Amino acid sequence: MSVDGDDAQTVSGARSGILDEVEAAEAALRDAALRGRIPGPRAADDPTCPDKPGDPDRDFVEMIDADQKIEPRDWMPDGYRRTLIRQIAQHAHSEIIGMQPEGNWLTRAPSLHRKAILLAKVQDEAGHGLYLYAAAETLGISREELVDLLLAGRQKYSSIFNYPTLTWADVGAIGWLVDGAAIINQVPLCRCSYGPYARAMIRICKEESFHQRQGYEILHTLAHGTPAQHQMAQDAVDRWWYPSLAMFGPPDADSTHSGQSMRWKIKRFSNDELRQRFVDMCVQQVEPLGLTLPDPELRWNEQRQAYDFTPPDYDELLRVIRGDGPCNRQRLAHRRAAHAAGGWVREAARAYAEKQAGRRKAGDTTAGVGVATAGVGAPPVGAGAG
Ligand code: 3HC
Repeated sequence: MSVDGDDAQTVSGARSGILDEVEAAEAALRDAALRGRIPGPRAADDPTCPDKPGDPDRDFVEMIDADQKIEPRDWMPDGYRRTLIRQIAQHAHSEIIGMQPEGNWLTRAPSLHRKAILLAKVQDEAGHGLYLYAAAETLGISREELVDLLLAGRQKYSSIFNYPTLTWADVGAIGWLVDGAAIINQVPLCRCSYGPYARAMIRICKEESFHQRQGYEILHTLAHGTPAQHQMAQDAVDRWWYPSLAMFGPPDADSTHSGQSMRWKIKRFSNDELRQRFVDMCVQQVEPLGLTLPDPELRWNEQRQAYDFTPPDYDELLRVIRGDGPCNRQRLAHRRAAHAAGGWVREAARAYAEKQAGRRKAGDTTAGVGVATAGVGAPPVGAGAG
């Protein structure tokens, strides 16, 4: 059974509202580019900009206040750069580690059709990781360094991916709840003050919106199936609800970075504001599923014009962030093994780039042509499985 009629409208309604916000952010980016920008902040001794002596701190604040994008060539405070590297890297790592829980079901999807959709979705997550590593690299750190920091346990990834996927219904719950939470958190990032991050987020959010819909459709099918399938869907929603609420981070009072990140317009809303938006969206969407959210305290608050709800267990969030969740060790061990197994690909790409650079230096104008085909050629003899 597919999502149709009124039920489809419920999900599409929420979805198109979200897509409208992404479209609006994209239009704002285009308009800003057409308007041209005030000259970006420059370091006082920047020789490329002798006409703009001045105060880079003040110019930076001026750009942020004018809602213009900070670009890689602009001067920026060290703290702004560090915050962006931390957040974008954590986001990129989350996309890459986030392939594991769903990858677990690729070989066991209930039909070829489901398998093809899941495969495409998992590949999308890899793509998101790559856009985000590329955005982080514009801040002066290499992808290699970032990956090393992740593998050494010195940078984080989202708590949510440390929970196991026990049944096929978990794939639906991840799509609906986890991708749903990701969208609520990430649509405002399309208006982040740092240009490369904002631009990467536009495409990511469009794809995440499809992911959420496919998860919803899986749950809808199960929830309207046999009693055992319905139970499987309910059980998955029960297990993923609170970890999804925790994805938004600690409550505002305990959030180390929110205040400064909001002043810099990296974050546009606080953790609690986004968590509330997510709850309000899910309450609307759970009804057509014929399922319930596992919170007896969930009720409409007329005064606040929002739903009251039980917050997640923040002590559990801290434990998971510190490495003590159900699957933390397994996730990192798997990533380290995959990274080691892919070593020959990196080595081959490096050797190829060096060869091309050598040929260009020697005046060969065709060097670099055919990169795409060379990149997918046969692996070196004895390289083993990548
Ligand atoms: N998991 C892991 N760590 C978390 C966390 C979570 N759910 N929530 C907060 N933290 C960490 C922060 O990184 C910070 O630690 P640090 O100082 O060592 O970096 C600490 O807890 C305090 O939290 P703050 O609220 O002060 O941190 P932020 O202001 O950075 O807010 C955030 C946290 C809301 C996650 C923000 O960083 C953010 O919006 N990041 C971008 C989006 C992102 O990374 N999402 C991850 C999920 S991606 C995804 O879901 C993929 C999709 O395909 C499903």
